[in-house]
Amino acid sequence: MRTEQEWIEVAQRVLTKNYKPQPVVMERGKGCEVWDVSKKRYLDLVGGIAACPIGHAHEALVRAVSEQAATLIHVSNLFYIEKQIALAEKIESLAKELQPARVFFCNSGAEANEAAIKLAKRYQTMVKGKPERTTIFSFEGSFHGRTVATVALTGQEKYRAGFGPLIEWARFLPWPESATDARALDAISEQTCAVILEPIQAEGGIRVPPPGFLRALRKRCDDTGTVLIFDEVQTGVGRTGHWFGYQGGDAVAPDVFSLAKGLAGGVPIGAIVAREEFARAFEPGTHASTFGGNPLACAAGLAVLETIEKEGLLAHTEKMGRHLAGRLQELVKKHPGVAKEVRGAGLLRGLALAGDATPVVQKVRDRGVLLSVAGGTVVRFAPPLIVTAAQLDEGVDALDKSLA
Ligand SMILES: Cc1ncc(COP(=O)(O)O)c(C=O)c1O
Repeated sequence: MRTEQEWIEVAQRVLTKNYKPQPVVMERGKGCEVWDVSKKRYLDLVGGIAACPIGHAHEALVRAVSEQAATLIHVSNLFYIEKQIALAEKIESLAKELQPARVFFCNSGAEANEAAIKLAKRYQTMVKGKPERTTIFSFEGSFHGRTVATVALTGQEKYRAGFGPLIEWARFLPWPESATDARALDAISEQTCAVILEPIQAEGGIRVPPPGFLRALRKRCDDTGTVLIFDEVQTGVGRTGHWFGYQGGDAVAPDVFSLAKGLAGGVPIGAIVAREEFARAFEPGTHASTFGGNPLACAAGLAVLETIEKEGLLAHTEKMGRHLAGRLQELVKKHPGVAKEVRGAGLLRGLALAGDATPVVQKVRDRGVLLSVAGGTVVRFAPPLIVTAAQLDEGVDALDKSLA
């Protein structure tokens, strides 16, 4: 048996160096706790970066995945797939504001955004007959993934550096400062294909748009015939206390939205949901994925959505989110000049610091609690939605000591 240190040494030799992992080798998890190979226990308040809404090794998810694995893991989209149809039906029923809508499945958040981009492009070109509408806007500070098109639409230079020249139709709008910020809204015109935005910017530092802005954006897109895409990869699947982030805040629905992360509780999956009118752009042969919507991932997705419903996790998320925000607010008072502001909604919360959040997150980890950094200076909480108030308190206390 290798020790933790020995595993790390091998990792440093055989893995590409695109990650900078913390020096911990994880072995197993249960609920909101994980253990490393040295048997040290951690309270997991980052949840696989918002990908484990029902926690680790939840009975319902373990059963669904085990039974599906023993029945049929994969067949491809050359055939209809029972679990895929059932999961699409469930998601469509939850996305009431887009009904009638259609669902396409893939395997990750970046892929889901790629699908949304291709759908919008094809909608303008083939359905509307407007090939001149080429520009897609995203926002400064956004994060939409690591594929070429999604990185081109990611509004943070550090993710784009070294990959240029990127895509010339990918452009950025300034992050809005008010509900009617003309700098952002007026740039959208009848030459625009689509706008993509996160209802809450997650990787950019848990930034919530000014109240009213999404309503104004919706109107501007309607007035100009621009496709409005929401990237719900991090905000979807209960994270904000609603099934989808757009159902909170201004409660403005997009034309198309993407999902991934929490949808199958850690089993790779991605999806887009598109209003029928826009979904028409995907005709046979126009887009596809070998693994997308496979029986295993969709069985996991069904188990996650059913568990969120059965355990009342939307209301719980709202309640725990308020508790967490209140506790973080205490840290702002207690550590003036260091902790500046609490941001977010539900169980996607950030504590904005005056400086680099990385050393703080490392100190918190040494105290046995897992958090992550967003936007360089923000400590992010994205715990499983099953988290208890006592567990959140344990996390906030560790953060409190680390800030001191
Ligand atoms: C808002 C958002 N979009 C897209 C992605 C990319 O998802 P994935 O890593 O599954 O490709 C992420 C990942 O952090 C995200 O937060």
